[in-house]
Amino acid sequence: MSSPQVTDLPKFLQEEGLTQECKTLLSSLPRNKGWIVVNLFQYQGFWYASRQLQGVLTCQHHFQANSDDLLLVTPPKSGTTWLKAITFAVINRNRYSSSDHPLLTTNPHELVPFLELKLFVDNQIPDLTSFASPRLFSTHIPYVSLPESVKQQGCKMVFLCTDPRDMFISNWHFTNKLRPQTMGTLLLEEAFESFCKGVCVYGPIWDHILEYWKQSLERPEKVYFLKFEEMKAEPSVQLKTLAEFFGCPISEEEEKEGVVEEILKLCSFDHLSNLDVNKTGQLPSGVENSMFFRKGEVGDWVNHFTPEMVKEFERIMDVKFHGSGLQF
Ligand code: A3P
Repeated sequence: MSSPQVTDLPKFLQEEGLTQECKTLLSSLPRNKGWIVVNLFQYQGFWYASRQLQGVLTCQHHFQANSDDLLLVTPPKSGTTWLKAITFAVINRNRYSSSDHPLLTTNPHELVPFLELKLFVDNQIPDLTSFASPRLFSTHIPYVSLPESVKQQGCKMVFLCTDPRDMFISNWHFTNKLRPQTMGTLLLEEAFESFCKGVCVYGPIWDHILEYWKQSLERPEKVYFLKFEEMKAEPSVQLKTLAEFFGCPISEEEEKEGVVEEILKLCSFDHLSNLDVNKTGQLPSGVENSMFFRKGEVGDWVNHFTPEMVKEFERIMDVKFHGSGLQF
């Protein structure tokens, strides 16, 4: 039998930037339909597009964590952009004034890079020696698939999530902005069905959340579990708690000088979303910065869910979070 021509191979194996290891793995993994890309693959229990999976593998093989690295972990569409901005501003508060702050000219995703989606994307092995200590990274990777060195080094992690209903709606809007025209609009009902089955990037989202929830209960000094809703309700309390967790608490003097309010104002939805860089700029990946800012509110799901969807979601969340102590 003759060897297969390139064109005989499934499309997902023809993608550029995938290693042979990744291609072999992809061929063996459960496959399902994606929202933005044709295929999602289930690896170590969670769903990925092939390019994301390549990023995860490269990161697993090559990322060497330092014990003082800080990792911001989120499932997609749970307030990552906000958390990145606040953390960057808190950690670097003595380096920049509000008039020359990098957040005024640079999108938060550029300042706090994703491991698997940016630094280790397309099988790149980045030189991280120029990163100032403590190094600040972000990721959507579920706990089970984090690079071993992150666990061994005991890096501190903040895990931010939001009500999965809001996460779903935010993701659905985001998807329709990013979806290639050839795929048409993704209907809410179709997205709902696959999200409920756990089939969405980095899903099942409940499992993703529960993994970090358990870690935060076992190792609260290393894993801080935070909800977007808590950030919205008490931003200054949460900012101060974060600063303390990072090991750079806000002093009484700083508090009197209004440092907390200044950082919150700098990182607020209104302020960031109205900056030129976030209105007209884009990331090197081509994603427009404005796509990361939509409403920035809690509870938008009520404007989209039918009564049946409400029931179905409640049923799933009851089962999944039962006995965990976690509620949304
Ligand atoms: P909505 O789509 O509900 O408006 P992520 O950053 O993880 O991609 O999450 C995106 C969500 O965070 C979007 O929610 C977006 O509007 C919101 N968001 C972005 N920047 C924010 C900020 N500075 N404050 C509050 N919410 C913000």
